[in-house]
Amino acid sequence: MAKMWAGRFKKEVDEKVNDFNSSISFDARMYRQDITGSIAHATMLGKTGIIELSESQALVEGLKGILEDIEQGKLEFDPTAEDIHMFVEAELTKRLGDTGKRLHTSRSRNDQVALDFKMYLKDEIIEIRGMVAELVETLYTLAEQHLDTIMPGYTHLQRAQPVTFAHHLMAYVQMFLRDIGRLNDCYKRMDTMPLGSCALAATTYPIDRDMVTELLGFQSPTENSLDGVSDRDYCIELTSDISLLMTHLSRFSEEIILWCSWEFKFIELDDAYATGSSIMPQKKNPDITELIRGKTGRVNGDLTTLLTMMKGLPLAYNKDMQEDKEATFDAIDTVKLCISTFIPMIRTMKVLKENMRHAAAKGFINATDCADYLVKKGLPFRDAYKITGELVAICIDQNKTLETLELSTYQSVCETFEQDVYQAIDLLTCVNGRNTKGGPSSKSVSVQIANAKQTLKTLMEGK
Ligand code: ARG
Repeated sequence: MAKMWAGRFKKEVDEKVNDFNSSISFDARMYRQDITGSIAHATMLGKTGIIELSESQALVEGLKGILEDIEQGKLEFDPTAEDIHMFVEAELTKRLGDTGKRLHTSRSRNDQVALDFKMYLKDEIIEIRGMVAELVETLYTLAEQHLDTIMPGYTHLQRAQPVTFAHHLMAYVQMFLRDIGRLNDCYKRMDTMPLGSCALAATTYPIDRDMVTELLGFQSPTENSLDGVSDRDYCIELTSDISLLMTHLSRFSEEIILWCSWEFKFIELDDAYATGSSIMPQKKNPDITELIRGKTGRVNGDLTTLLTMMKGLPLAYNKDMQEDKEATFDAIDTVKLCISTFIPMIRTMKVLKENMRHAAAKGFINATDCADYLVKKGLPFRDAYKITGELVAICIDQNKTLETLELSTYQSVCETFEQDVYQAIDLLTCVNGRNTKGGPSSKSVSVQIANAKQTLKTLMEGK
């Protein structure tokens, strides 16, 4: 494809340099935004009298025709075009002749690329947000079925205190709700329209930026032309939000990997969401979750790429910034792939309640409740804590649990113990006694679920 700047140059650009410079292989995915942005620009040029109204109309029709042809597969992207912006403009000129050459009046690719990228990312945010919302719904629906499914809660991966599977799931719901909130915030900050910044110093033409802003559904025009073309905060912020979202998915994945192991066996993945081994016939591997854990590193890499690419750039546009797209697109594609695989995996997995309960019965996870029992009978907590520690040591010696230890042994350590200690350390009592706000009791978790539904609704109404 002939270069737009051929007038200034005496030679054709070297073929390798052309390939090196070109971004069409990855920015062609913004064709719809590029054309829609150009339609708004052409409309504005006509309405302000910068170009003839008839020419503006011809440009709009021509652009619509290109869009239609691309969507119907009638027009292929030219791999030798430098980028999607050049490709569309050249195609328009091919179709309209001199009129096509008027489209780029009072515009630069610098503000054009910022516009296209923001439009593209705004749409992606809405899509990702919808997927996270579906995940949240999946999780609280599952939680509703497990309000009384007791499992050990852990610290340091050591059994600590009893919780329920519902409570555990709702912890992730909180993380994902915050992720949606962050995506909303990112959207709001991204919602400024850069066209009119031109190359860097705006323009002497009497353009109407408010009109373009409204036509394209942005909140407001960007305030400063230098910032308008050199800001990449929006893609960094989005990739950072995605990194955090991936981190949550990755922690969840790590737990599922553990829960699938024979050492835990808290869940069994559906055959459709697990894989076998090429040599070990017995194997059923949680590859999906391992890949999500692995891909989180990849998305963190994308974020590092963007931050590092930007950190030394003087104002305004520099070609380094073309590197923003592949990293951001990769983060978006990866998180969407991960969530869309994760949701059906969660929906189809079998929860092995009995094994969770069995694990909860071991590990003295009711020891805190045993100490609290003595506190309720008047002992200071530190004394009660020490006494319970002695009882745990006796249990370990005698291969017993706090539930199976004789009352006489309890009483030999502390006379305050009575028959009702067994009721106090019953796991269901322990869980349902924790019914303060945010606690694991079935009542508290029911409130958490109701609140989560409301929060999700509010978040999805806001942009
Ligand atoms: N393909 C370029 C990018 O993605 C478009 C902007 C080019 N601007 C320029 N002055 N060379 O950043």
